[in-house]
Amino acid sequence: MSMVATMPTTGPLVDQYNRAVKKLRVSLTDRCNFRCVYCMPEDAEFMARDELLTADEIVRAVTAFARLGVEKIRLTGGEPLMRPEVVEITRRIKEVPGVRSVSMTTNGFMLPHRAAELKEAGLDGVNISLDTLRRDRFIQLARRDYLDHVLKGISAAIEFDLQPVKINTVVMRGVNDQEVRDFLTWSREHPVVVRFIEFMPLDADNIWERKLVYNLSEIVEAANQIAPVEEITQDKAAPARTFRFLDGQGEFGVIASVSEPFCEWCDRVRITAEGKIRNCLFATDETDLRELIRGGAPDVDLDLRIRESVWAKWAGHLINQPNFVKPERTMHRIGG
Ligand code: 5AD
Ligand code: SF4
Repeated sequence: MSMVATMPTTGPLVDQYNRAVKKLRVSLTDRCNFRCVYCMPEDAEFMARDELLTADEIVRAVTAFARLGVEKIRLTGGEPLMRPEVVEITRRIKEVPGVRSVSMTTNGFMLPHRAAELKEAGLDGVNISLDTLRRDRFIQLARRDYLDHVLKGISAAIEFDLQPVKINTVVMRGVNDQEVRDFLTWSREHPVVVRFIEFMPLDADNIWERKLVYNLSEIVEAANQIAPVEEITQDKAAPARTFRFLDGQGEFGVIASVSEPFCEWCDRVRITAEGKIRNCLFATDETDLRELIRGGAPDVDLDLRIRESVWAKWAGHLINQPNFVKPERTMHRIGG
């Protein structure tokens, strides 16, 4: 990574290591109807309504990022479908000049009710979180008995063509790693994309330990025990390394944030539900955009604050270093 001397005030939105930001993840709410153990505490306290960016404020923020070169928007949560105006927000963001795609990461629960409207509003792909196909384990991981709802949500996403439909699976050693084989087989026998995510230290109960991380090479090894695979990764900036079985229909990917960090190619930033820019999932500081938006600041002020926040992005997270500091926010308050 080469250092750039001073922050540009025109041209692409870049950080000090010359990485351009092309993707923005927008958290619509920190609320969720699940309580996944790697993401939330059982007794979560949620942000007050008036803390959240309104639909208008979200659109204003997205418009500013798009003006600076961001092309892809992903709606996240908590659970983005818990936000009553989610369809309206999707529609309006899709119309923002410069936005090429709007996708969503969801737990799938509400998709059977919302998929048709979301498709019509212009939603592109969905990533649906599913870590287990066993009901008892689902209850253990999500602390809710909702496996059937999620499976119906996946069917709805396929039926209403919210493509690509990707399944996100967080693998924890000793918890659900026996099912890696089942998920791999699913991607071999069906035209689906399964993405295994290494467990990251963003949980609320401090259960993260390195030995719980079931990593990229273990997954590829498990795949090769089923049948030969080839790597088909195309986009270096995409967080997943992707593979397919030579005789398979779908594909699988691994988001190896811990064992093989991809910070060097990172092209994304996040905005939390209360309007704080987080230039990294693991950032320990944030930049407030809401104050400017609510204060009626002109576009140039928003642009400058966004540029400064992006510019300050660090080279990469420090999970693998002794001085790693776990962010105060847990995943549901950051936005996947
Ligand atoms: N480690 C890895 N992935 C996580 N997710 C939530 N918390 C963690 C964690 N601690 C996943 C969810 C969802 C996506 C947004 O991030 O399962 O698929
Ligand atoms: Fe909810 Fe997703 Fe967090 Fe699970 S991972 S508690 S579904 S926000």
